[in-house]
Amino acid sequence: MNTVKTVLELRAAVARARGEGKRIAFVPTMGNLHEGHVALVEKAGQRADFVVASIFVNPLQFGPNEDLAKYPRTLVADQDKLVAAGCHLLFHPDVEEMYPHGQAGQTRVSVPGVSEGLCGASRPGHFEGVATVVNKLFNMVQPDLAIFGEKDFQQLAVIRTLVRDLNMPIQIIGEPTVRADDGLALSSRNGYLSEEQRAQAPALYRTLQQLAEAVREGERNFVQLAETGKASLLSAGLRPDYLEVREALSLRPATAEDRELVILAAAYLGTTRLIDNLAFAL
Ligand code: PAF
Repeated sequence: MNTVKTVLELRAAVARARGEGKRIAFVPTMGNLHEGHVALVEKAGQRADFVVASIFVNPLQFGPNEDLAKYPRTLVADQDKLVAAGCHLLFHPDVEEMYPHGQAGQTRVSVPGVSEGLCGASRPGHFEGVATVVNKLFNMVQPDLAIFGEKDFQQLAVIRTLVRDLNMPIQIIGEPTVRADDGLALSSRNGYLSEEQRAQAPALYRTLQQLAEAVREGERNFVQLAETGKASLLSAGLRPDYLEVREALSLRPATAEDRELVILAAAYLGTTRLIDNLAFAL
């Protein structure tokens, strides 16, 4: 696997692969890779002939009081995992390469509708930062397909909408969340948890499962259900940020008639904010 740091090198390497008739898959990441990322890269290898990954901790998607400075940077370990997963090319630009004219005046892309509410309400500007960097990365790599984890359910909806609305010829593929044995969704931020918090964290997914079960059994008062879910998170030691039942394709608040549902939640353990979701059909 080759690691390149500039757009020029990236484009030359992708052009060579294209010249050989290869189909290009792209897995954008912020590094600190875990088994969830590895699954995305492996899936990319099954779907295409040439797999490009990126590692870039994008400042544009972090709020002023978020964890940009302390976000784990583990390049060498990440490179080993990418090689083992079958990645052919890693793009690892620095901030100046991605935003050569600075961040303040950078053209930004906003995706209304699906960006609003949920994480969009708790993290103002976050999805604009995500949509902007993903758009830039797509223009740099020009892949045939790109793969994202379903753990970031709202992010995936934002990216699908971005690609649809801007007519990008890129197939977007969502991959199921990879979980620890106790159900906790793998996330780079799990590394922030103390031993005690790590033991409490599986309550997030457990709560989602209990709520989904209640819906399957006929519960349709989603507002009440969300309150029940938040109370159960609180009693397990988590501080809920949001917990909502949404229609899974549009992400609008669910109605009793909807059949494709997703329950999405974010909750704090100390200062660590975890997100998770559970999508299901009735
Ligand atoms: O999900 C992530 O790791 C990031 O939000 C992404 C898509 C790589 C954009 O920076």
